[in-house]
Parts: sequence; C-alpha cells; structure tokens
Amino acid sequence: MCGIVGYIGRREVLPVLVRGLEGLEYRGYDSSGLACFDPEHSRIVAVKEKGKLDQLKARLEGFHHNGCIGIGHTRWATHGAPTRDNAHPHLDASEQFAIVHNGIIENYERLKTDLLRAGTHFKSETDTEVFVHTWGRLARKIRDVREAFRQTVLKCHGRFAFVGMSLKTPDRIFVFRRSNPIVIGAGSGEYFVASDVTALLPYTREVIYLEDDEMAEVLRSEVKFYNVKTGKRMQKKSIRIDWSSEQAQKGGWPHFMIKEIHEQPDVLETALAKRIQKGRIVWDTLSKKAEARLKKIRKIFAVSCGTAFHAGLAGKYMLEEYAKIPVETSVSSEFRYSDPILEKEDMVLLVSQSGETADTLAALHEAKERGAFSLALVNVVGSTLAREADAVIYTHAGPEIGVASTKAYTAQLIHLALFSIYLGKLRGKISNQNLKTLLGHAKKLPAHIRQFLVKGKAKVEECADALSDKPNLIYLGRGYNYPTALEGALKFKEITYKHAHGYAAGEMKHGPIALVDKNLPVVSIAPASKTYEKMMSNIEEVKARDGIIVSIGTRGDEKLRLKSKYFLEIPSVPEIFSCILTVIPLQLLAYQAAVLNGREVDQPRNLAKSVTVE
Ligand code: AGP
Repeated sequence: MCGIVGYIGRREVLPVLVRGLEGLEYRGYDSSGLACFDPEHSRIVAVKEKGKLDQLKARLEGFHHNGCIGIGHTRWATHGAPTRDNAHPHLDASEQFAIVHNGIIENYERLKTDLLRAGTHFKSETDTEVFVHTWGRLARKIRDVREAFRQTVLKCHGRFAFVGMSLKTPDRIFVFRRSNPIVIGAGSGEYFVASDVTALLPYTREVIYLEDDEMAEVLRSEVKFYNVKTGKRMQKKSIRIDWSSEQAQKGGWPHFMIKEIHEQPDVLETALAKRIQKGRIVWDTLSKKAEARLKKIRKIFAVSCGTAFHAGLAGKYMLEEYAKIPVETSVSSEFRYSDPILEKEDMVLLVSQSGETADTLAALHEAKERGAFSLALVNVVGSTLAREADAVIYTHAGPEIGVASTKAYTAQLIHLALFSIYLGKLRGKISNQNLKTLLGHAKKLPAHIRQFLVKGKAKVEECADALSDKPNLIYLGRGYNYPTALEGALKFKEITYKHAHGYAAGEMKHGPIALVDKNLPVVSIAPASKTYEKMMSNIEEVKARDGIIVSIGTRGDEKLRLKSKYFLEIPSVPEIFSCILTVIPLQLLAYQAAVLNGREVDQPRNLAKSVTVE
C-alpha cells in the first residue's frame, strides 16, 4: 500500500523526503515521487519515477534546491499502471496545487466526469488526480485554500489519507485522514508527516496521530487541527513513541525478518516483565470498567487475518481451557460479511500487528454496531484499531518491518496465554497455585527460545537445504499446534513462493494423505501433549508412504527422533506455551529456504506489510 511523507521546517527538504520514503519502502511500492516549493522561482517542482527509489534518486541527481517544504509518496498501484505519469504527487493544471494520496476515492469517476465537462485535462489514470483539480478550482473560486481543501475532502467518498501543498500558501502543508493512517512528528520549528511512525523516528519520537475525519494545517511553528465535517478547530495531544530509530533499522542483520526472529526472546521478556507484577497478571490499558465487563463475557469471537488469525485460533484453545469461555474464530474478511450473531454480553477479540488491516477494522465496526464488547490486541501504538476498539492491549513487540510476521506473532501468543490465565483467575477457574506454576513456566520461555536459536540453527539449515527446492510441503498439528501448522505453512509459502499447506493432522485420512510420496516433506508438530499418540499415528501413516518426515518434538523424545529424517527439539513446557516454542523452528526453516531460493525475504512479491485496502 502507498506511503506518504511531508516536511516543513528549516532543513533542505529533498534529503528529508527521500529519507522518509526510504523508511516506508518496506510497505511495498512500484513508483515514487516528491514535490517541493522552490522559493527562488516561486513554483512547485515535482519529480517522479516508476520503479524503486533508486530510480527517483537518479532523477534527482544534480537537482539543487534550497526549499524547506515538500511532500513525497511511494505508490502501490490501484488505479492505473505503475508509470511515471501515474506516480504521485499530482498537480492541478495551474501547477499551483500538489497532492499525494493513500487509499481509494470511490466516487472518482463522477468527480472526473464533472471536471472533464469543465474542460479539465487529465495527465494520469489515477483517482487521485480528481482531488487536486477539484481543490485548485475550488480554491480559486472561494479564495480560501484551507477551506477548499476541506470541501474537496467532503466531496470524496472512501477511505484515504491526503497530504497537499499550494503555491498560494507556501508556508504550510494540508493533511487529512480517514481510515488510512497519517502521523505528524513534532520537531523544533519543524514538522514531519508520514503514513507510518517508522519514517519519523530518525527525527522525532513526539507524534500526533490524526483520527478519522480530522485534518491538519501544518506550519513551521504550529499545527492547527480541524474536524473536517464541521470545519471547527480542535486540540490534539502528542504521544511519545518508545521505538528508537535504531530499532527500526536492521542492526547488522541481513534481513529484518531474521533480526526480528532473534528479537523474540527480548520481546517475550518485555511482555512478561510488563504483564506479571508481584505474581499477578496486570494490564496497564484495561480500565476497571473493562475488567468488570470481562467478568461477564458469555462468548468470545476471535477475528483477524493471516498470521494474526493463527494467533487468534491458538487463543481459542487457551481461552477455552483456562477461562472456560467458548470461543468462535473467524478470518475478518468472512466475519464482516457473515451477519454475525452477536449479543452485548459477547466480546470480539481483534488481533492485529498493524492495527490498520481493512478487513479487521470492518469487523470491529460490525461488532460495535451490534453492541458487543471489542478488545483489540495490537502492536502499533495509536493505530486505528487501538483507538477505535472499546479496549486495547498492546503487544509492545517493537516495529516489525519484515512483511512475514514473526515476533509480532509470538508476542500475540504470549499475551493471549497470559490473558487467558488472567481471565481464568478473574472468573475463579484457576487456583493461586496453578497460576504460580504457569507463570513460572512462562518466565522460562525467553531462555528456551534463546537456546534454540543457538543450538537448533544448524539442524534447521540442514533441513532447509533439503527442502528448499521441494515444490510442495504439508504441515500437520493438533490442538494448540494446529494453528502452528497453519502458521508454519504460511511462513514458508509467503517468502519462498513454494506451495505449503497446514492441516489439522486428524484430517490426513480425509484427503491430504493422497499427497504423500517420497518427494513430499511433511512437517509434523508433535511435542508432548494429550494428542501426542495421535500425532505419532499420523507420522506412521506418512512414513509408510515414504514421506519425508520433519518433526518438531520435545527434547529427548527418542521415539519421534528415530521416525524422523529431521528432528528439531524444544524443551518440555505446558501445552499452552508449546505453540510459542514450536513456531520458532518453522520461522527459521521458512527464512533459510527463502534465502536459498534468493527471495526478497523482507518484501515478498505481491505482499504488503499491512493490507489497508479490501
Ligand atoms: C503474515 O506473515 C502476513 N504478513 C499477513 O498474513 C498478516 O499477518 C495479515 O495481513 C494480518 O496483518 P495484521 O496483523 O497487521 O492485521
């Protein structure tokens, strides 16, 4: 999805814009551009190019400019091919107005028809261009640039963010958001605008998130906020982001993904330290009112997408075993159109790393319309889901840049495990002794992962060597590790581009076993559990048909080791925590196989880090 940056201050604007766009590259894009105010010639200069930022930088070489205000954009094509003409920014006919945009203007054809009738000439196939022409025409008519910007926004239907600038007001930038995130970073006598806080971190950690239907007029000395519907001024507070810019860089690792895999022990340690205080599980963001509501919850709907869905599915097993609350799981894209039967005693648990996934946001709106209690489990502070749900729990996994989610997933799992135990205690289902024992096991998890990342790495690399050229793999799991099978398969397929499919192991006889032959790797997640014997039967069935057996099992399990071509072992932990350990070898396996296949590990083809469109 698209990325937006803007700057106003005292610095030379070009390097600031380019650096900001570099901070957004992970979002995926196919063209880029920037526009800045050239004070010497009193004009807006726009430079844009198809392809990666290197192509844009090549066009900027020898381009000297001392302007200090500008906007930039990385485009993920929705309307019109990824060409230079379709790249943003877009200027109006007079070249006195420039705009960059993220999202979709759903009624752009009608607006375009009106403009064409008025004789407007379009240079691009984009929906965006209708905004800048409408804005320019209105501004000339009402002679008020800010009001014209506001009225233009109101003419557009859809979910989007706009950042614009005008020659008529060369000392300010105009910003608007509806559903597509925009954050403003505050410096000293300067302000930064971006789609994502990562692009601001090199300059500031004081940020202000725009909420839906809010617009801002950004000057060097201040930011004025307005409700776009009423035009009235409003006040907003800044928040401090505790991510350093270093965190958001690779720190010496070849890829963000492998760095983030190795950050998992620290992420879990942070979560455990924050959530377990004096032997109790505490939540800094849950009010007494929310806690009272949680006590009475009748049923939980865990709703999310992709990896976050797998976390929600693992949460189902956790919540049902420890909190004794029935849980129904759904992918957000199905939930939102299924006319869900929700009561106000129900809770919708929305799991999301970005907090901006369009389908999950839509699921939240379904929940709110039906009066259910909504709890968001989110990584990005201040994200839309975090701010619109009735309650939020942050996973504090730090910025996850790699498109393939890893540390955010295990952060979700540990929070879901602690939340399930907390709810169980709150509702009288867990004794003090049981709580103490469980928390004791939880505190050992970071060390277990650290140990595997050191001791298990060579075995994983050996396994990846053998599997990386296989066109198909299947992953099998049961109970808490059925979601692990789904997640392991997703990791493998999304970064190696090879087909991998996760199954509930009991389903083998209902079809998938037809796939098994001597070329098919079968990754079986079979730690000590109440379904261990059943898993062993499945592994026998695969062995009898010469399948290649890769097992994730409990340390010392000789029986499983002897049956497996590759045996990756984890320590013995209660089942609720086993899914946090068993996924680590699978993350590494996918990563190694992707590297061996020469893939774009951090930005796999066709994928975006956060799917903010349907
Ligand atoms: C996971 O590796 C994928 N990148 C993708 O499935 C992701 O989990 C999904 O898009 C949900 O994103 P969210 O957690 O930000 O809502």
